[in-house]
Amino acid sequence: MLGNSITIIGGSGGLGQVFAKLFKRHGFEVTLMARSKAKLVRVANKLDVRYELNLEKSVSKADLIMISIPIHSTPAMIRKIGPMLKKDALIFDVTSLKREAYPALDEICRQHPINSLSLHPMFGPGIKNMRNYNMIFLEVGGTKYFSKKVNALRNLFQSEGLHITNVGDPEEHDKMMAIVLGAPHMINILFIEFLQRIGIPLSKLMEFTGTTFLLQKIFAESIIQREVEMFGEIQMDNPQFHKIFRKFKELVDDYSSIMETKNLERFKEIFSKGIQYSNEDPHFERSYEFFYKFMKILKQNENE
Ligand SMILES: NC(=O)c1ccc[n+]([C@@H]2O[C@H](COP(=O)([O-])OP(=O)(O)OC[C@H]3O[C@@H](n4cnc5c(N)ncnc54)[C@H](OP(=O)(O)O)[C@@H]3O)[C@@H](O)[C@H]2O)c1
Repeated sequence: MLGNSITIIGGSGGLGQVFAKLFKRHGFEVTLMARSKAKLVRVANKLDVRYELNLEKSVSKADLIMISIPIHSTPAMIRKIGPMLKKDALIFDVTSLKREAYPALDEICRQHPINSLSLHPMFGPGIKNMRNYNMIFLEVGGTKYFSKKVNALRNLFQSEGLHITNVGDPEEHDKMMAIVLGAPHMINILFIEFLQRIGIPLSKLMEFTGTTFLLQKIFAESIIQREVEMFGEIQMDNPQFHKIFRKFKELVDDYSSIMETKNLERFKEIFSKGIQYSNEDPHFERSYEFFYKFMKILKQNENE
């Protein structure tokens, strides 16, 4: 139902490579497309797949087309290749915000006899095994084969152990991303910035570090080494992030008043409300145990 060829635009990038390996494993003939020839050739040779620098040639015969390029370039790319695709092809993007990508996909499947889907893998290029990670599906539409193709792709991802979350509209997706991506990224970015502003070298702090500081530092360090443009776009270009950021600023003001007035009752209330909120979370009861498991991994690594 899905055919046997896939072209990945942005195939030399982090996520493009992850999916090139996945589709190759599932027997697809994989073609990578990107602009920089040197990197494209290196990656295609490493993965033992094809490459094509000419955009039209790369997509015109493909059964599946995956777009894995920066967020801001994705909508224009979708509109550009829409007319180049063969009949009944299935095109999908994997970009982290859907506000502009989704309408572009909707537009091209109304104008051409093709199928459009919008996906969001909730993991980065560092992933080794997809089991129990999330993949978000936003079904757009297309030809009479649309449902069968989407189901076949869903089954393929499920066979890798991915959990599929279906979302009806791009605004809901972007709202969730403001919370599950934007907010933790922001807190970790701010943590390192906060330490720098205090002005004590990290090496000195490490002589004093406790457990929480150590783990928080690891999270923050892993974020600030990632794709800075993408992380910027996820926050700045998502109006939903701006909304929750205003709530965060209110929270900081509230916290500041709790500190200034030494209001232990309101401080306790934050803990008790937090416990009530997290109670149903399957990790909740064992969170302290997991915390020490992460610590154990770090300590073992220090001894190696
Ligand atoms: N990284 C993550 O953790 C993650 C997770 C979920 C979703 N995503 C989404 O996945 C997409 C790709 O992210 P990534 O981290 O894989 O990015 P990346 O590593 O920077 O790769 C981007 C790729 O796109 C190519 N490219 C850029 N502009 C292009 C254009 N105009 N035409 C053709 N190729 C172009 C780049 O090669 P050239 O520069 O040589 O063209 C490169 O191959 C983004 O939309 C991102 O939001 C990323």
